[in-house]
Amino acid sequence: MPDPSYVHLREQGVSLLLQYRLGHPVRVVHWGADLGDVEDASAEALAAADLPAHRINDVDHPVLLTLPVSGHDGYTGHPGLSGSRDGRDWSPNFVLHRPPTVASDSCRLSLADEETQLRLDLTVTMYPGGLVGLRATLTNDGPQYNVQDLVLALPVPARADELLDLAGRWGRERVPQRRSFTVGTHLREQRRGRTGADAATVLHAGTGGFGFAGGEVWAVHTAWSGNHVHYAEFNHTGYKLLGGGELLLPGEILLAEGESYRTPEVFASYGVGLDEVAARFHAYQRGRDRPVDTHRPVTLNVWEAVYFDHDLTRLCALAERAAQVGVERFVLDDGWFGSRRDDTSGLGDWVVSKEAWPNGLGPLVDKVAGLGMQFGLWFEPEMVNPDSDVARAHPERILAARDEWPAPARHQQVLNLAVPECFDHVLTQMSAVLSEYAIGYIKWDHNRDLVEAGDRTHGGRPAVHDQTLAVYRLMAEVKRRFPQVEIESCSSGGGRVDLAVLRHTDRVWVSDNIDPHDRQEMLRWTSQLVPPEYQGSHIASGRSHTTGRTHDLNFRAATAVFGHLGVEWDLTAADDTDLAELGAWIAFYRAGRDLLLSGTTIRLDGCPDGVMVHGVVSPDRERALFAYVLLANPLASPTPRLVLRGLRPQAQYRLRPRLVGTVPSGLVAPPWWGKPEPASFPDRPGDLAEAGVPSYPGVVLPGAALMHAGVMPPRLHPDQAVIFEVTQT
Ligand code: DGJ
Repeated sequence: MPDPSYVHLREQGVSLLLQYRLGHPVRVVHWGADLGDVEDASAEALAAADLPAHRINDVDHPVLLTLPVSGHDGYTGHPGLSGSRDGRDWSPNFVLHRPPTVASDSCRLSLADEETQLRLDLTVTMYPGGLVGLRATLTNDGPQYNVQDLVLALPVPARADELLDLAGRWGRERVPQRRSFTVGTHLREQRRGRTGADAATVLHAGTGGFGFAGGEVWAVHTAWSGNHVHYAEFNHTGYKLLGGGELLLPGEILLAEGESYRTPEVFASYGVGLDEVAARFHAYQRGRDRPVDTHRPVTLNVWEAVYFDHDLTRLCALAERAAQVGVERFVLDDGWFGSRRDDTSGLGDWVVSKEAWPNGLGPLVDKVAGLGMQFGLWFEPEMVNPDSDVARAHPERILAARDEWPAPARHQQVLNLAVPECFDHVLTQMSAVLSEYAIGYIKWDHNRDLVEAGDRTHGGRPAVHDQTLAVYRLMAEVKRRFPQVEIESCSSGGGRVDLAVLRHTDRVWVSDNIDPHDRQEMLRWTSQLVPPEYQGSHIASGRSHTTGRTHDLNFRAATAVFGHLGVEWDLTAADDTDLAELGAWIAFYRAGRDLLLSGTTIRLDGCPDGVMVHGVVSPDRERALFAYVLLANPLASPTPRLVLRGLRPQAQYRLRPRLVGTVPSGLVAPPWWGKPEPASFPDRPGDLAEAGVPSYPGVVLPGAALMHAGVMPPRLHPDQAVIFEVTQT
């Protein structure tokens, strides 16, 4: 194979073009918009055209961007592999050592460097929605090799001059931040031993001013729930690239001869606008082996209703109220096991508490089943309180780098699940509970960072990597034993949201903050990676437990229905009006969840500060639901029109406000086209007790008019929303 050959993976408007030749590194020629059919001659010409001119003071031949990036040819940025054998063999030159295996949607490239006795197998996948997946396995054929890190990166063009990624904290997960893509490295390290409320989640580079619909955008996501990095690099070589990988602690991966290290999959999504980038992640998640059903049950979680106060009578009353309003799944949260009457003790002892539940969970499980609901249960399998039977019996199973335990957080420590006996103990206790009761759902929590997480059974060696893999194994084994069980990934709220944990779980808890004002933003940006049906989205009590703000049920519900709906509210304290209205919203959701949980996510650009418009459009573009949301009164700007996207330009659509329950208290002035008759527009809360009432005729317009001219929205009070239904006529 003397001449270079090319692998051209194409899907849904995306191309990835790689150049390879036996005995040479693999080069990335293009990742971005579809190039169409590319003959080898054109690929050759493109590869030649992509070679940078020689720069004075650089090495004497063109510096190439290879996969993985290598310093061997003169690239002086972050190398793909950092590692050594006692200071030697730290600059490998990985070259193709056998012809690749190429399929229409993937290729496998076997690279090796004889001198350093290392092999690297690369898998590049083009998923059906146009998402690219990169994964490498490094094998050591020599004496012990210390892997410091192995990252995978792709080049982006010079015109990508703005970066956007996410930040956050507990209660305010996934908040966007933007900056220029200037010289240097924008490095997002995550050393918390979990994905993190403040994870970058998706790191984007795009052309100036890119938005939801416009501008070219390239993005990466490191699918890993332990320590990890995302980075954007721009240096004197003139290349810009985006990369990601696992963050390894000192000595964490020491490969003996014949051993391998596999990286997490690093996903790369290209699109015009952020919505297209998100759509590729959504298509990937929706295409997984066991996608969730769009008819997934409306959930009630008892946490904010009762906290640790587990009282059968109270919980049965709550279950009755839940069933009455249309809830389909009832989840008992923290506090049912061991000595766990508050958060200071009992964690890790997964045995039903005789004190709190003298007759076991049976009476509640039966009650819930009798009301026609599924039963779900909370676990935090990786964690222990030092004041627990398991910690007393096996203190050596607690992750610690030194003799002393790490600083406690929420009075807890982390169990070393990579110790087989420890893994088996947790699995056995969980299995006993899951076998005894009819349980269809686990809320899998994880409430502290992994600080100084070392393996005491091996002298305190760093253990985050092994722990992360052990958690995935435990989730997989629980699912293998109990295939009917769905798992929710929760971590102090939304601290474990990534595409690796979503291989084993069926939804993520977005945040402990259920205040709809904040949730509007958190749902919007969690959607950059996760489709709505995988986002736990609850309606909480009027006064938010995390912010203290009070909101109408209308706004709480109009916010929550754009995810997997649940309720987290003490319904025994709700009055009849609230219950009727909540029932109406749940009925609305249940009738529309096939669209809400399967549509294409659309977020509108160009709204003034304080206004958000977002929605879902059915794949056939015949139906859509959009929310017009006012979070704050815009400063002296003209009334923004409601301008939609994602419809067929030539088709006729009816657009009508879909008021559910009561009229939003802030709906002070509906637009003329939104009223059945001016006089009959209801203006008192409580006038509309039923789902879907009243039926406004709305307005019929071509898709092009709705997408380019738009219509006048209602005038709202801040923290109000109106849902609009769009139906092809
Ligand atoms: C943190 C979670 O995010 C909450 O929803 C709740 O399950 C508590 N943990 C229970 O301890």
